[in-house]
Amino acid sequence: MLGLGSVHQNLLWILMDKKEKLKRDYGIEISIIAIADSSGIAVNQNGFDPRGVIALKTGEGHVREFSTFRGDDTAETIESLSLDLIFEATPVDIETGGIALEICRAALLRSVSVVLANKGPVVKEGNELRRLAEKNKCGFEYSATVCGGLPILNIGRRDMIAGEIKELTGVFNGTSNFVINAMKNGVNFDDAVKEAQMIGAAEADPSLDIGGWDTAFKLLIIANTMLGADLTLSDISVEGIDGVSADMILAEEKAGNTIKLIAAARDGKYTVKPTVVSKNSFLGSIEGWEMGVEIHSDIYGISYHKLFEKEPIPTAASMLRDAVNIFAGK
Ligand SMILES: NC(=O)c1ccc[n+]([C@@H]2O[C@H](COP(=O)([O-])OP(=O)(O)OC[C@H]3O[C@@H](n4cnc5c(N)ncnc54)[C@H](OP(=O)(O)O)[C@@H]3O)[C@@H](O)[C@H]2O)c1
Repeated sequence: MLGLGSVHQNLLWILMDKKEKLKRDYGIEISIIAIADSSGIAVNQNGFDPRGVIALKTGEGHVREFSTFRGDDTAETIESLSLDLIFEATPVDIETGGIALEICRAALLRSVSVVLANKGPVVKEGNELRRLAEKNKCGFEYSATVCGGLPILNIGRRDMIAGEIKELTGVFNGTSNFVINAMKNGVNFDDAVKEAQMIGAAEADPSLDIGGWDTAFKLLIIANTMLGADLTLSDISVEGIDGVSADMILAEEKAGNTIKLIAAARDGKYTVKPTVVSKNSFLGSIEGWEMGVEIHSDIYGISYHKLFEKEPIPTAASMLRDAVNIFAGK
């Protein structure tokens, strides 16, 4: 388990809570034999007690405090271990993919499956990593990277057999929702961003949210995973909400409309931009902690998918879902 922040602490809790159900319903037992945070990696072949790990991290401790600490060369230590799966939830590094990309590549090369919540490696080299996993007959799954618990990648890949997605639009970024809403209520842009940070909606560095990039990462993952594309970020036209003023929002309000940061894939074009939509439309109804996707297809009609996720429990559950999908029945 790489990274022990809020996502993986929730996953540890779910693994405890659902232990019996996983065994009974799917024949799966998960033993966490290695844990890593920014201090390095600890290894316990008998499996760590999730309670102890959660207690350490909620107390702001580090794995170097465990007697089973192996040092700070996490990638090398992982290479030396016999394991089936890596859960990856370290911070996003879009520039290089970071340690996550290095570890993913090395794991897939030796047929160790990987489940990620971290978008970095998927945005940087998702198609390549998927091919590597297929070649080496292991799993590479990342449904948590797009809209947390909303199984949108699974729907697109598994549930629309023989269908063609003609158009896909979505609202993927809670911070932008929050800021636009606060501005509507008279709060200025900078204060709205600060407020979003205070309530935990925005990242410590909110520029990725506000600038539209977080939304673009998710659109890229969707396009490359379920629309058969092979995009890089430069193929997406990205405009954030920095140019949206309170006057614009209020004028649209009066006309029964609202402004949302919308990702769209249509006619072979991929865009992220603030867009005016009717308040009564599906996309216009996505508020606050919600995220949603609207899909127009040739044989599956028009489908609408929406999730409310405040704490990352559904994101953590998605990682478990991916793991079970890889191993159940094997
Ligand atoms: N939170 C959500 O709702 C959500 C939803 C979907 C996707 N995600 C993605 O999931 C990932 C994790 O999110 P989070 O909210 O759990 O983040 P977080 O709370 O900031 O935790 C990040 C964890 O990664 C560890 N870490 C940092 N550098 C590392 C390294 N070089 N090697 C090993 N561990 C390292 C940190 O160590 P320390 O504990 O020592 O600082 C921390 O435990 C991110 O990529 C995020 O974008 C999050």
